[in-house]
Amino acid sequence: MHLGIRNELSEREHRVAATPATVSSFTELGFSVSVETGAGAPAGFPDSAYSEAGATVVPELAAGAPVDLLIRITPPTESDRSLLATNGVIVGLIDPAANTTVFAEWGRDGITSVAMEMVPRSTLAQSMDALSSQATAAGYAAVLLGVSTLPKFMPMLVTPAGTIPPSTVLVLGVGVAGLQAIATAKRLGAIVYAYDIRPETKEQVESLGARFIEATTEEMDEGGYARAVDEETAEKQREALASAVADADLIITTAQVPGRSAPRLIDRSMVEAMRPGSLIIDMAAASGGNVEGSRPDETIEVAGVTIMGPTDLASRVATDSSRMFGRNVLELVKRMVVDGSLIVDHDDPVVGPAIVAPSKEAVE
Ligand code: NAI
Repeated sequence: MHLGIRNELSEREHRVAATPATVSSFTELGFSVSVETGAGAPAGFPDSAYSEAGATVVPELAAGAPVDLLIRITPPTESDRSLLATNGVIVGLIDPAANTTVFAEWGRDGITSVAMEMVPRSTLAQSMDALSSQATAAGYAAVLLGVSTLPKFMPMLVTPAGTIPPSTVLVLGVGVAGLQAIATAKRLGAIVYAYDIRPETKEQVESLGARFIEATTEEMDEGGYARAVDEETAEKQREALASAVADADLIITTAQVPGRSAPRLIDRSMVEAMRPGSLIIDMAAASGGNVEGSRPDETIEVAGVTIMGPTDLASRVATDSSRMFGRNVLELVKRMVVDGSLIVDHDDPVVGPAIVAPSKEAVE
């Protein structure tokens, strides 16, 4: 079994799909591992560490033997297809919704595509939940980006030069990223407020020492996710959030509804009511934005308020986000190795739901 790790680096991507530690575990499972030169360098994993872990470091996977298992942390490129052996498998954060046609076509050629995004978010699959691990990293990095951009201290400081009040942080959307953002801002000494449409988040917010903002709440769908709200509800939400938004020094928004545009929680008039020098980090900028005017990977200013829409937050803590992702994938692949062979079982309760193509019917 030949496993390949590509060099996926770009200006905004510093993560790598496998670390030397997971490479070592893959070799114990029976894989021969090839890693493209420099793949882990920005995450703090030099080529020499991969070699010591048992991998072969190659300039390009394309020049070597076909790959039975390709692991990616970003969606595949067309060139990945030619690397894969007949009946090869690709596993990663492959953005299944955006690439359905590609995977269906590859599926007809015998390639199996497994999306880490579709691993069930169950207790059984917790160690394989890459959405959660990367959201944890992103929530943490969002606060640090905010702290380093905001021209203020987070904690209250009593100094001979005067008493400095603490900063107020508002977190909108309390999923995995939001919870980590709350915990990180609390550790830095900020006063933290938070809101999510799912009612059960109130207790989670309060258990972290933050204050929950009472606004509209609605039950989640069967999958545990929030539902999209109609415009009337959205307007009520904005009214209820307006004063907390106006009082905040730093706002981090994370609200998402799978498969839909992100809900608009902050409109322009709410931004204009904030103090000049305040900062909003919209973590949902890539899926439409929680904040009117935010744009992916851009920083704009509205009435003296800075609005950022970074999409590379997990990559900013690349060492640890790669460690967590690597572990998620290793645990999933362990379920696919039977007696030294790679077998993708459509009936496995974790792997099965994550298979994008080919369909179960097509392989039977
Ligand atoms: P996400 O990234 O899809 O959304 C982030 C947050 O935005 C969610 O908390 C959602 O309720 C909130 N949101 C959506 N629309 C909103 C609106 N109009 N106003 C305010 N907030 C809004 O969420 P994430 O972090 O991926 O988590 C999704 C669900 O999965 C949650 O219920 C979480 O508890 C659950 N989960 C369960 C796990 C397990 O049982 N092992 C592991 C990880 C997550």
